[in-house]
Amino acid sequence: MPAKLVKTISGVRKAVQQVKKEGGKVGFVPTMGYLHEGHLSLMRQARKETDFVVISIFVNPLQFGPKEDLNRYPRDINRDKRLANEVGVDLIFYPDENEMYPQPFRTFVEVKELDEYLCGRSRPGHFRGVCTVVAKLFNIVQPDIAYFGQKDIQQARIIQQMVKDLNFPIKIKVMPIIREEDGVAKSSRNVYLSQSQRESACILYKALCYGKEKIKDNVRPTNVIKKMKEMITKEGGKIDYVELVDWANLKPVNKVEKGKKYILAVAAWFGKARLIDNEVITL
Ligand code: PAJ
Repeated sequence: MPAKLVKTISGVRKAVQQVKKEGGKVGFVPTMGYLHEGHLSLMRQARKETDFVVISIFVNPLQFGPKEDLNRYPRDINRDKRLANEVGVDLIFYPDENEMYPQPFRTFVEVKELDEYLCGRSRPGHFRGVCTVVAKLFNIVQPDIAYFGQKDIQQARIIQQMVKDLNFPIKIKVMPIIREEDGVAKSSRNVYLSQSQRESACILYKALCYGKEKIKDNVRPTNVIKKMKEMITKEGGKIDYVELVDWANLKPVNKVEKGKKYILAVAAWFGKARLIDNEVITL
């Protein structure tokens, strides 16, 4: 059966209620569309673990800053429908802005502290927009399990905290980063890259692999980060941040301890594309 395209909240609720009445488990993958292997890996996992797979496609204006790429964010619903069908998605929730944010809209969800570093620092208000839309989507879809990518690790950590703090009865699964052959993390924003920028972009993953090895070898984080920044700059990337943060509270660290978990994360501009990537390091 092809995936059903549903534009209304009431339509989603009806379909999900029916599944739950029959004792089925609902899996959910929120996206902004322009699907690629990264998104599809989450949907395949949902297909394996649940009876009814819902995805959402909604370019959420609330999570874009005034100077960001909301208007040029790539969109192609027909291609997305075809890809979702190929992996066996049951329902695509494809609301318009009015369905999601009927005016006046006055309620927002903010997770404190975890948004102070990394992308939170360079994109003020971004995670408030993400949390607000994800909380709404969770209430609309009411899934048993929701799937997120490690690619946006700060987002995944913040959603985990939100689910815990607000008692959403939902299990959050964080799935590995899917990469191109040369190591570049798959991203809808990779379409902004020229061919030469696309070639340079693989330095992010190279720098992360270098950094992970050095941190594991007990080299001082400040020295590792300095070298990583040099590597990226040399390839024409404009650094937003390179940081080693504690996995639990996302605060930058200068010293590491055995037995703890860290995230080595990068964000850099290649032309008009701001790319992010990370490695989790367990010592
Ligand atoms: P979007 O960027 O479309 O990503 C949807 C999901 O796909 C996120 O959980 C993201 O981490 C995951 N993803 C993206 N690229 C990936 C890759 N290369 N490997 C593995 N997973 C990958 O993230 C959002 O949308 C939005 O912020 C959203 C949560 C939908 C709220 O609007």
